[in-house]
Amino acid sequence: MSTLRNDYFLKALQRQSTPYTPVWIMRQAGRYLPEYRATRQKAGDFLNLCKNPNLATEVTLQPLDRYPLLDASILFSDILTIPDAMGLGLYFELGEGPKFERPLREEADIQKLNIPDVGKDLKYVTDAVSQIKQALQGRVPLIGFSGSPWTLATYMVEGQGGTDFLTIKKMAYSRPDLLHHILKTMTEAVTQYLHAQIEAGVDTIMIFDSWGGALSHQGYLEFSLPYMKVILSNLKMLTQKKIPSIIFTKGGGLWLEDQLTAGSDALGLDWQTDISAAKKRVGNHVVLQGNLDPAILLSKPEAIEKEVKRILDGFGHGSGHIFNLGHGITEHTPPEHVDVMLRKVRDYSQQFHTT
Ligand code: CP3
Repeated sequence: MSTLRNDYFLKALQRQSTPYTPVWIMRQAGRYLPEYRATRQKAGDFLNLCKNPNLATEVTLQPLDRYPLLDASILFSDILTIPDAMGLGLYFELGEGPKFERPLREEADIQKLNIPDVGKDLKYVTDAVSQIKQALQGRVPLIGFSGSPWTLATYMVEGQGGTDFLTIKKMAYSRPDLLHHILKTMTEAVTQYLHAQIEAGVDTIMIFDSWGGALSHQGYLEFSLPYMKVILSNLKMLTQKKIPSIIFTKGGGLWLEDQLTAGSDALGLDWQTDISAAKKRVGNHVVLQGNLDPAILLSKPEAIEKEVKRILDGFGHGSGHIFNLGHGITEHTPPEHVDVMLRKVRDYSQQFHTT
């Protein structure tokens, strides 16, 4: 069905053969690019940028224009659009992470939590998806995304990022019923949100479980993983479209075998996991996406090439690997270092795809 000019990323997600290892970069549209900073300034701030489909389209395409070796694009948005649409009062202070004016702490507020009207309150996201698809003209596939219920809940309850998660963990241990109520509500919201993105035209979906790794082993199995599994199985029922899926639990390398039960096509790996060991553990069940340490891009070209090579050697021969960073690219990355990484992936990976 594909009218894509470059569908190697989708092929790799289905473990079909490709001439080289496809690659994209988490947060590929972002502050390390001067053109992104210029558009953000035009928008006024980051949230305005997300909420303006024309500008969101512009920044989604910026990394593709600069780096022709990218094999996928990702919707420019944020995982916190859902809690924002739920009325928690999302704001960003320059140089700091996201914060909420009204964090979710009181039982009464938790019981009152309503899922947003995706067709209305989050229409700017699906409008951006349609516009981006049009602007891409089939160059590469478009990835849609959401946060995992657990990760969204951490921001909603803590009220900000970068905490030690003591507020939400206290809730997990003392009032698991309340936390499960939040997680169930978010699961419904995420399902509707991703369904709307699929209907608007994204080619793949990715669930970012950025803070799954903060949980204990038991906690992960109770509060994070099962909800991602429900979302993926709900989506399979809701849509006729066969859209591949990726789940990424940052800090989740210990639980790869458990993650197989979620039913995604791919698992994201952060940089702490050795990719060759990960491949042995998951076998042929899923594709692996990752896992270069984003910090390497701050170093020298030779060091970058060496690390790219190490990861490609680690995965070895055959399909089923999508090259990426182990987490988002940092804003201090020199843009030309991205070229070095992409060129090395393209040149060095071809030997692993000969039949
Ligand atoms: O990957 C992409 O290019 C698509 C865009 C994207 C953004 N956020 C843009 C963004 C994606 C996929 C996200 C997901 C996201 N947002 C996650 C999951 C991925 C991860 O990093 O673990 C999380 C946890 C968030 C919440 C969030 N939004 C944080 C913690 C921050 C601050 C980060 C920082 O580096 O300061 C944001 C803001 C944000 N989201 C920026 C961008 C480009 C920077 C905002 C700016 O321009 O000032």
